Amino acid sequence: MNDIAKTGSLAPAQAPTGQLDAFWMPFTANRQFKAAPRLLARAEGMHYYTPEGRQILDGTAGLWCVNAGHCRKPIVDAIAQAAGSLDFAPTFQMGHPKAFELSRRLVELAGKPFNHVFFCNSGSEAVDSALKIALAYHRVRGEGQRTRFIGRERGYHGVGFGGISVGGIAGNRKMFGPMLPGVDHLQQTWNPQEMAFSRGQPAWGAHLADELERIVALHDASTIAAVIVEPVAGSAGVLVPPVGYLERLRAITEKHGILLIFDEVITGFGRVGKPFGWQRFGVTPDLYTTAKGINSGTVPMGAVFAREGLYEAFMQGPQGAIEFAHGYTYSAHPLACAAALATLDVYRDEGLLERVGELDKHWEDALHSLKGVRNVIDIRNVGLMGAIELEPRPGAVGARGFDVHVKAFFEEDLLVRFTGDILALSPPLIVSRNQIDEIVERLRRTLERVE
Ligand SMILES: Cc1ncc(COP(=O)(O)O)c(C=O)c1O
Repeated sequence: MNDIAKTGSLAPAQAPTGQLDAFWMPFTANRQFKAAPRLLARAEGMHYYTPEGRQILDGTAGLWCVNAGHCRKPIVDAIAQAAGSLDFAPTFQMGHPKAFELSRRLVELAGKPFNHVFFCNSGSEAVDSALKIALAYHRVRGEGQRTRFIGRERGYHGVGFGGISVGGIAGNRKMFGPMLPGVDHLQQTWNPQEMAFSRGQPAWGAHLADELERIVALHDASTIAAVIVEPVAGSAGVLVPPVGYLERLRAITEKHGILLIFDEVITGFGRVGKPFGWQRFGVTPDLYTTAKGINSGTVPMGAVFAREGLYEAFMQGPQGAIEFAHGYTYSAHPLACAAALATLDVYRDEGLLERVGELDKHWEDALHSLKGVRNVIDIRNVGLMGAIELEPRPGAVGARGFDVHVKAFFEEDLLVRFTGDILALSPPLIVSRNQIDEIVERLRRTLERVE
């Protein structure tokens, strides 16, 4: 191990070590990482352990996904059992019992009006699947001219071409040439003058949804297939919807026959205090995407939930015709299904999908106690999601956020995520009040040390 890794000091990047070089790491500054590797070797409950055995408090549920906590025995056992009994089964023109059982459990958890799920293997695939369902739905109903999508600035919808087209993060788009045609974006909702240090949903900003009327008027509603937003923009830094904003998006889309898609890859499975974000915010979309928490991050899986009437619209034509020409080899993979069924049991038995309701005041107070700590310019929270936004260093946007991430890891044994100068927190839903306090205290000490 090199000196940076040992001391945590931020010396200039060194040459990559040979052992780490072959892995082209995703969404990572490869050379910087390989000069100061931050390695995780095993995990249990609320903690990761480094190869040297340091215990790291997981402030981010891995990557917003390990909602039940790490290496939970019932989930581990279910995966092992599945691997030894049905390693793979096709779901194209074939099926296996756990895929059907899981679908039933999921629509039961969602409740009305959701009655079907479509499986895939990630959030990105869930988004592309939802966009395709929206296009095809209009087409099977004779409205094939509805081909436009409307996303939102700062939206993150994964990395497929559909997802980056409706997404609104320039860095994820600019390298990849023309995006899907016919996509417009609503403006993002964060306004520091009006909402800095809001607790929960900001009171200001519902009117930002009215921009949708302008875009609809420009193109004519008859050309628009769907609007897609995250109920809470996660990856761009926990941008919480203003009170009334999602309701207005719903009213406008409904009025114009436009589908509303919520991307619940982060907000799904208990992150905001109900099984799904739409339930927490009281706004029902037509389709919503999930992944991550569906099986607590253990086996890649995603699922799109469809409202009554969507699946049914496809069920026409000859019996032998494939109604929707879309799917993945690993859609409803037996290991992912087994993991999800066991995860749903853990969520149910431990009340985890509602647990955030008991913790979110404590979480909010703990996070907002960082107001006034140096460089902190905003704190945002909803459910068990939180962001601390830092003033960028002049001429070095993102450097301060990165330094906090690295120092927290090496010096405070804390995993905190950063996007530019925004720190994001989303601990597993099993977190205790003491652990919440611990996360915030470790972060406070780190912030006080970072220039
Ligand atoms: C809202 C949202 N949609 C889609 C994705 C993409 O998911 P994946 O990385 O599993 O493809 C993410 C990932 O963070 C996300 O937060």
